Formats: sequence, C-alpha cells, structure tokens
Amino acid sequence: VGAYPIFTREEVTKHRTLQDGVWVTFGDSVYDITDFVGLHPGGSKIMLAAGGSLEPFWAMYAVHNQQHVLELLGEYKVGEL
Ligand code: HEM
Repeated sequence: VGAYPIFTREEVTKHRTLQDGVWVTFGDSVYDITDFVGLHPGGSKIMLAAGGSLEPFWAMYAVHNQQHVLELLGEYKVGEL
C-alpha cells in the first residue's frame, strides 16, 4: 500500500478544465496541475495534455527533459494509477 491514493485513467479524464481541476499523468503518477496552468512557460499548450498522459507531448517538446522540470512536476503529485 503506497502513500498516495489510487486513481483510474477514467477518473483522470474527468479533470481537464480549470473548473473541474486539471489532472495529468506521467508514468504511474497522477498530478493536479490546476495551480500551475497559469504559470506554465509554454502557455496554454499545457491544456492539450489535460486529463491524460504527458508523455506524447513531452516527447515533442524536449525542453521538459530536465531535472528541474521533473522536480516542479513532483510538487503537484496527488496520486497513482
Ligand atoms: C516550457 C513545465 C506541459 C509545451 C516549459 C518549462 C517548464 C514547463 C518548467 C520551461 C523549461 C525551461 O525553459 O527550462 C511543464 C509542466 C507541464 C508541461 C510541469 C505539465 C504538467 C506541457 C505540454 C506542452 C508544453 C503538455 C505542449 C503540448 C511547452 C513549450 C515550452 C514549455 C512549447 C517552451 C516555452 C518557451 O520556452 O517558449 N514547460 N510543461 N508543456 N512547455 Fe511545458
């Protein structure tokens, strides 16, 4: 039993607006990035990943492949798949 609550991918898909909260996954972790959306250096493109996986987008925008970005993401972790 881990320290975080477990969510299904279906639950994550329900969080793709600022009103409902913006959740994303990376690996088996779930993040509530609602409070980061307005701070994102890449602007509103971040909403393309809302409710789903970051991987396809971060594969296209390799600027995220840096330790400081992973640490920032980690601050928003709320659960696991
Ligand atoms: C840049 C974080 C999702 C597109 C950045 C940077 C950070 C960041 C910290 C600046 C990196 C640096 O310059 O060292 C995040 C986080 C995300 C996320 C935490 C999700 C939780 C996305 C998505 C896309 C995206 C889904 C595209 C669909 C971009 C682009 C830049 C960028 C294009 C470059 C902006 C520029 O320098 O002009 N992101 N990002 N990001 N991000 Fe994201």
